[in-house]
Amino acid sequence: MIILVGYATVEGQTRRIAEAIASTIEAKGHQALLVDIASGAEYAVGHPQAAILCAPVHAVRYPAAFQAFLRQEASWLNGVPTAFVSVSLLIRSEFEEEREEATHFPDTLLQESGWKPGMIHHAAGALRYTEYDFFKRWIIRRMAEQENAPTDVTRDHEFTDWQALSAFVTAFLAAAKA
Ligand SMILES: Cc1cc2nc3c(=O)[nH]c(=O)nc-3n(C[C@H](O)[C@H](O)[C@H](O)COP(=O)(O)O)c2cc1C
Repeated sequence: MIILVGYATVEGQTRRIAEAIASTIEAKGHQALLVDIASGAEYAVGHPQAAILCAPVHAVRYPAAFQAFLRQEASWLNGVPTAFVSVSLLIRSEFEEEREEATHFPDTLLQESGWKPGMIHHAAGALRYTEYDFFKRWIIRRMAEQENAPTDVTRDHEFTDWQALSAFVTAFLAAAKA
């Protein structure tokens, strides 16, 4: 089975997540078509029979290129097994109501695009303080303070649970009867 693993990323964590998904798919004997959606690369090559799409939350929204991709592709996506991996910081919150809030990040995106993924996974992202410019580091540090996330800006912090991600992909493949 050929599976499109399409992603959008701003700071690279969602690319890492998409790469891990592609590795799991290939380890299970399938073909993963890893595509950066914003690059304009051809994603219809080989005619994927399923798709896992991944996008990060930045200021409560997903990247515009990802929204545009979904609006354009919703109809074929709705005709094959699909899953959405939403990447955010809030999903790692220690507070239940904040985690609950993070599970609703996809609502508007899915409503507006008409895409109905069969499965949704919420993955925690990363804080890459060492890669932000001064202004961004300041803003993100303040956000981290409010969310009880690490505020040590001298190093990066990764929260992604790689095992849970791999288990999700395995469950998706089983549901897609791949
Ligand atoms: C400028 C900025 C804004 C962000 N806004 C949010 C947000 O509103 N909610 C949230 O849960 N996470 C937020 N995050 C955390 C990102 O989702 C997290 O850093 C993720 O790993 C980014 O993925 P990327 O590296 O693929 O761009 C924000 C991060 C940055 C840098």
